Amino acid sequence: MKILGLETSCDETAAAIVENGVNILSNVVSSSQEIHTKTGGIIPEKAAREQLKSILAVIDLALSEADLEISQIDALAVTVGPGLIGSLLVGVETAKTLSFIYQKPIIPVVHHLAHVYANWLEKPTLVAFPALVLTVAGGHTNLFLMEAHGVFKLLGETRDDAAGEAFDKTARLLKLPYPGGPSIAEKAQVYLNKNKKKLNLFPRPMIGEDNFDFSFSGLKTAVLKEVKEKTLKKADQQKLAAEVQEAIVDSLTQRTLKAIEIYSPKSFLLAGGAAANKRLRDRLRQKLKEANLAIELRIPAVKFCTDNAGFVASYAFFNLEKMSWREINATPNSEEAIARYANHGRKIS
Ligand code: KG4
Ligand code: ZN
Repeated sequence: MKILGLETSCDETAAAIVENGVNILSNVVSSSQEIHTKTGGIIPEKAAREQLKSILAVIDLALSEADLEISQIDALAVTVGPGLIGSLLVGVETAKTLSFIYQKPIIPVVHHLAHVYANWLEKPTLVAFPALVLTVAGGHTNLFLMEAHGVFKLLGETRDDAAGEAFDKTARLLKLPYPGGPSIAEKAQVYLNKNKKKLNLFPRPMIGEDNFDFSFSGLKTAVLKEVKEKTLKKADQQKLAAEVQEAIVDSLTQRTLKAIEIYSPKSFLLAGGAAANKRLRDRLRQKLKEANLAIELRIPAVKFCTDNAGFVASYAFFNLEKMSWREINATPNSEEAIARYANHGRKIS
C-alpha cells in the first residue's frame, strides 16, 4: 500500500510516499527556517504563507522522485494537528482537495504520535511491544508506554515548556540563533571538546519526584539570572550552552531510566526534533548499555527526527483510520486532535 503523506504543522512543508509503512519511495522537505532565523523565532503568519508557496511543488517533487502518478497512490495521510492553525490548514485543505478530485481516502494524523513512527522508517522494522517512547520536540515532551500500534499510554509529560522549546528559549537568552537546539548543541560541543568539568549549574527539576513528568521553565529563569546585566562573551555562550544542554539531557535521561525500571519495556524508542541532539542520543545509548537490560534501543537517523512526512505516512499505514474529506479539519489543539482523530477504538490514557 502506497501512502502519500503531507506534513505542514509548523515551518516545514513536507510530502513523502511510503510503501507499507516502512519503505520510503520519496521524502521531500522544504523548510522556511531561514526566514524565522532572521526574526529570531516563528511568526505564524509568515510560516503559513511559506507553506502555501511550497506545498504543490513539494507534492509534485515527491511524486516524481517516486516515479508515480497521483492515481497510483492508495491513500493520502495528513497531519491534522497539533500545530499552527495557518500552517495546518495548508496541508489539510490540500489533502482534502486531492481526495475530492482523485477519490482517494484520507487518514488523519496526529503529529506528536506520528513522530514515533520515525522509528519504522529504518530497518529492521519489527518493534517489540510494549515499547517505552520518549518524544522530545518543539511543542511536546512525552513519555508513553506504547502497547501496540496506536495504543499509547501516557506516563508523563512536560508541565510547562517542551524540551525543544527549552532549547529555543534559552538559546535566545544566550543570543544564539533560532532554532535553539542545533545552536546550543554546536556551542556546547566547542566547550565539551576543551573541558571535562562537571556541568551542574542549572536545576534538574522533578528528578526524585514520584511521577514521570518534566519541567523546563525553571531553566529559562536560571539562565536569565546568569546572563542578566552581563556582556556575553563567546566563552560564556559556550559554557552556558553546555550547562543548558546537560540539564535538559539529564532530566530526560533520568525520567526515561526510571520508567524503564518500572515498566520493563521490550524496546525503547526516541522521537521528535530534539532527538537529533547528539549528547542526548549518546547518553541514552551509554546508560542503557551500562544497565545491561534486555531492551532494544531505537534512535532514528537525524533526518527522520525533525519534521518530515515520512513518519506521517508510516503512522497512517499502521493506524489505518480512513475518513471522508468531509470529516477532516485542521485541529491545532493537542487534546482535541487526539480525541477526534486518534481515539477510534484505540486507547490513549
Ligand atoms: O519535532 P520538531 O521538528 O517540531 C515539533 O514537532 O515541534 O522539533 C523542533 C525542535 C526545535 O525546538 C529545535 O530546537 C529542536 O527540535 N532541535 C534540537 C536539535 N535539532 C532540533 N534540539 C536539540 N538538539 C538538536 N540537535
Ligand atoms: Zn514535530
